[in-house]
Amino acid sequence: MEMKIGVIKGDGIGPEIVDEAMKVLDKTAEVYGHSIAYTQLLMGGASIDVNGVPLTDETLKAAKESDAVLMGSIGGDAKTSPWYQLEPSKRPEAGLLALRKGLNLFANLRPAVLYEDLKGACPLKEEIADSGFDMMIMRELTGGLYFGKRSTEEVNGVLTARDELTYNENEIRRIAKRAFDIAMKRRKKVTSVDKANVLDSSRLWRKVVEEVAADYPEVTLEHMLVDNCAMQLVKDPAQFDVILTENMFGDILSDEASMVTGSIGMLASASLNETKFGLYEPSGGSAPDIAGKGIANPIATILSAAMMLRYSFDLDKEADAIEKAVSEVLSKGCRTIDIMAEGKTQIGTKEMGDRICECIR
Ligand code: IPM
Ligand code: MG
Repeated sequence: MEMKIGVIKGDGIGPEIVDEAMKVLDKTAEVYGHSIAYTQLLMGGASIDVNGVPLTDETLKAAKESDAVLMGSIGGDAKTSPWYQLEPSKRPEAGLLALRKGLNLFANLRPAVLYEDLKGACPLKEEIADSGFDMMIMRELTGGLYFGKRSTEEVNGVLTARDELTYNENEIRRIAKRAFDIAMKRRKKVTSVDKANVLDSSRLWRKVVEEVAADYPEVTLEHMLVDNCAMQLVKDPAQFDVILTENMFGDILSDEASMVTGSIGMLASASLNETKFGLYEPSGGSAPDIAGKGIANPIATILSAAMMLRYSFDLDKEADAIEKAVSEVLSKGCRTIDIMAEGKTQIGTKEMGDRICECIR
């Protein structure tokens, strides 16, 4: 197969971790007889430095013309980086939001898995960690509060800010369907998370999710209020299979879920639209404090590349090979500093990429 992959290395540790993911993709393509053409794209701070804006129309167009996009991370230190002297709509994060919207990437998949070999990194009590967990957070990504109208103005002499939270039934239905489809391939349980005791948008969310659920009789649906969900994630994470939720709740809960695994450097993500196209990026941020030191964990980006092969190219065998290679390297005791533990071998970003390549077969 020939794959046209757009690559956004981005800011901070982005370039280092993406280089390793490309290395693993190349090795996988070589072993399985595929060819990959990469197109480098600038987004976020790297684009601001060159173009003055975090996302240009040309970049969006080039992204659309590729089969899938692999991304590192964007953004810098908000206190020291000049990017944050710009008005909010010109900052790195605005580029990412515009890219998601421009590519219609409404379905964000964030798996949070407690790896057997990394149980020690889990910050929860041993009896909770022992049962392990493997959940998929399905976050709606192009609606809600992050894309509503916003303004800051003086109302009767008082500075007043407003952010609008809107969802229509179509936006809810398409993400709900995705969540149920994915649940069908997993343990067949969907927990839909909302704040239906307060918000109208959540009450509509619940109604539409129930309508969709009727088409999936094999899947168990439960509703959970978001505050309770935040609590349940640390109390009993093993109860979750697929968590389906709106944009902001998903943003917050996915960070919480990743922290509970103890290793945010391990967590991949995929953002999909109605077609096979997807944007694949690690769940973690740009970590400017460790950028350029060669110590960042590239595994989340490598696993994102595996998700790309699975979801955009239907290359399940190849995706399995990458995931297996990652497990193998971990079970041999190789660790980057973020997941280092006593008795294990600490290695750097590049070496981790090399080791994983060696295990691709
Ligand atoms: C994420 C990030 C982004 C988001 C930011 C950088 C705009 O936190 O992908 O979770 O909130 O969606
Ligand atoms: Mg976030």
